[in-house]
Amino acid sequence: MGTYLITGATGGIGTAVAELLRERGHDLVLTGRSPDRLGELAGKLRTGAAHAATQSIAIAPGAPPAAAPGASITTVPLDLTEPRRIEAVLAGAELPGRLDGVIHAAGVVHLSPVAELEADEWMDHLSVNLVSAAEVTRLLLPALRAAGGHVVFVNSTAGLRANPEWSAYAASKFGLRALADSLRAEEPSLRVTTVYPGRTATEMQRRVRAQEGHPYAEDDFAAPGTVARVLVAALETPRDAVVSDVTVRPN
Ligand SMILES: NC(=O)c1ccc[n+]([C@@H]2O[C@H](COP(=O)([O-])OP(=O)(O)OC[C@H]3O[C@@H](n4cnc5c(N)ncnc54)[C@H](OP(=O)(O)O)[C@@H]3O)[C@@H](O)[C@H]2O)c1
Repeated sequence: MGTYLITGATGGIGTAVAELLRERGHDLVLTGRSPDRLGELAGKLRTGAAHAATQSIAIAPGAPPAAAPGASITTVPLDLTEPRRIEAVLAGAELPGRLDGVIHAAGVVHLSPVAELEADEWMDHLSVNLVSAAEVTRLLLPALRAAGGHVVFVNSTAGLRANPEWSAYAASKFGLRALADSLRAEEPSLRVTTVYPGRTATEMQRRVRAQEGHPYAEDDFAAPGTVARVLVAALETPRDAVVSDVTVRPN
């Protein structure tokens, strides 16, 4: 069994990934901003009480269907708004010396035209979505190298094409692709995957729809559990190959 650290574990996609990895018996390090929400999530994962949206996802044939009771779940409250503070938090977290994978699932988005997008908004997007992902990766590289680990960046189809009002978010995600591609070339002992989800039924999408002035209907979007299955399939790809980039859109 492996050990996986997930940023944005309290979010829709991060939680769905945590559930699938937990079902497979892996140890987890969960990060997010709120200690209470992290504790609640860890409790649910320990008892196997996953939330309905992902519990209904069928597990791939051959995969173990239930949570392995012995695996450990650690929570690390971590705010990614200020990348300079991450090193001290991780240093105090007593993280394992070997990590089989890091899944970068934290992210923020605020829609606004360039004409109205002030510097603080730009810095918030770039800090949370890009610079912190680079900093977390840098700090965890020794543990990843020790295990020949896998780094997964949850990007976005907005990281492939920038639409009106999406400039700051898209710029952060275009940058996240550059980070992934450079890392893959620099660290041959690691595997690096970028997942580009389209619109997915999470709180982020609910907020995006409100900002766009449209009603939110969960069924219009991909389920977070489906995106998580694609991500975990990349993690479980045999070591002779790497899923470098994969796009998963609502059907
Ligand atoms: N939903 C979509 O349609 C969609 C589409 C394409 C790509 N994505 C990407 O998928 C990833 C997961 O998004 P989601 O849809 O699961 O959204 P979500 O449910 O809103 O979850 C976002 C996660 O990011 C964390 N986060 C936000 N700001 C943070 C900060 N300053 N410091 C630390 N953590 C922070 C949140 O933690 P808290 O619990 O502390 O708020 C939460 O765990 C993001 O990278 C997003 O860009 C989403």
